[in-house]
Amino acid sequence: MSEPASPLRSPGRSLPQAAYTDPAVFAADLEHVWATGWLFAGHSCELAGPGEYLTREIGRDRVIVVRGTDDALHAHHDVCAHRGSRLTTADRGCVRAFVCPYHQWVYDVDGRLRSARLMGPGFATGDHGLAPVAVREIAGLVFVSLAPDPPDVDRLAAALAPQLAPHRLDDARVETRLRYRVAANWKTLVENNRECYHCRGSHPEFTLSNFEVGVNGDVRTDPRFDAALHRARDRWAHRGLPAEDVSFPGGAWFRVARLPLRDGFVTESLDGRPVAPLLGELGEADAGSLRVIGLPDFWAHANCDYAVTTRLTPVDTGTTDVEVCFLVRSDAGPVDVDALTAVWRATSEQDWELCEQNYAGIASRGYRPGPLSPVVESSVEAFLTWYTTALDRAAAPLG
Ligand code: FES
Ligand SMILES: [Fe+2]
Repeated sequence: MSEPASPLRSPGRSLPQAAYTDPAVFAADLEHVWATGWLFAGHSCELAGPGEYLTREIGRDRVIVVRGTDDALHAHHDVCAHRGSRLTTADRGCVRAFVCPYHQWVYDVDGRLRSARLMGPGFATGDHGLAPVAVREIAGLVFVSLAPDPPDVDRLAAALAPQLAPHRLDDARVETRLRYRVAANWKTLVENNRECYHCRGSHPEFTLSNFEVGVNGDVRTDPRFDAALHRARDRWAHRGLPAEDVSFPGGAWFRVARLPLRDGFVTESLDGRPVAPLLGELGEADAGSLRVIGLPDFWAHANCDYAVTTRLTPVDTGTTDVEVCFLVRSDAGPVDVDALTAVWRATSEQDWELCEQNYAGIASRGYRPGPLSPVVESSVEAFLTWYTTALDRAAAPLG
């Protein structure tokens, strides 16, 4: 028998209970998985003008992402360079400068300290800016990294930018956002996202427009999907719409793939018809559904008329906050929000219920790691390998 790849798990099985429930593992997750890679922060259209900012909380850290007067995005730790107070309390806003509420140090939005009262003669304001955080904007999506030496993000940019650019999410608006607090470990939510084994039993709205196959690593065959993919790629290639499948290359943390929808559906709506004007420069509704995944915290579908992004925030071992945003083109007139959100509101809420039930069982005395299907759960296996590799690399405490 071969040795398990990681002491945290046996290949082909779900993780041991402690990986989901032990606060020491949760702390290791934050340190060695969440603080080492790239995380989804938000959308560049939320940061259109100078001083517009959003904040992204990850564990004990909060990052401010802000549009500078130079039009570039800047990201800073939300920690005053005086004695460390938070500068912001809001999720998002627009400022001329960040003023610390404690002793009123004033920072330019690019992070430089502008003024500090009563600090005595000779105080060098230039030596006391906000600590920077790496930030990268790719085709309207904004990513940050807490790592002092962030891993390569150019490969994501190379895969994502050409495929997402025609949807022009940089020139979109967030029409509405849904927030959830899910009683489950964050890994339970990612595992759930990484398979469509559960789709038939739980997602009647999602499976109207979507084939059940198409998740990478799902080796089921469906002649209708194969034919639809083949025909769609021919059409997209003819129009110059990129559709290369870039799925976790070499065990990387991201996926970009344009998949066809079922016959009669040009978007993920209940009736197959667009729920908003066509996005960006697509020109035609026939654009399939562009799937974007970033481990550990992000997935999105960009359709012809709207995009939906999902962002996870781990709170504690058994709690994950989720924000689901719906984007339409910036100059769209009034949009029917019920129609816009119908499929993904239903699907998301079905998933959270599944995850909560899953986590309740995992946390109970009766749980044992169970076998993953090689037919439909290879992408769960790939996620768990990615995750345990990150922890093993750090020689983190294991459950
Ligand atoms: S902690 Fe911010 S000004 Fe003192
Ligand atoms: Fe699901």
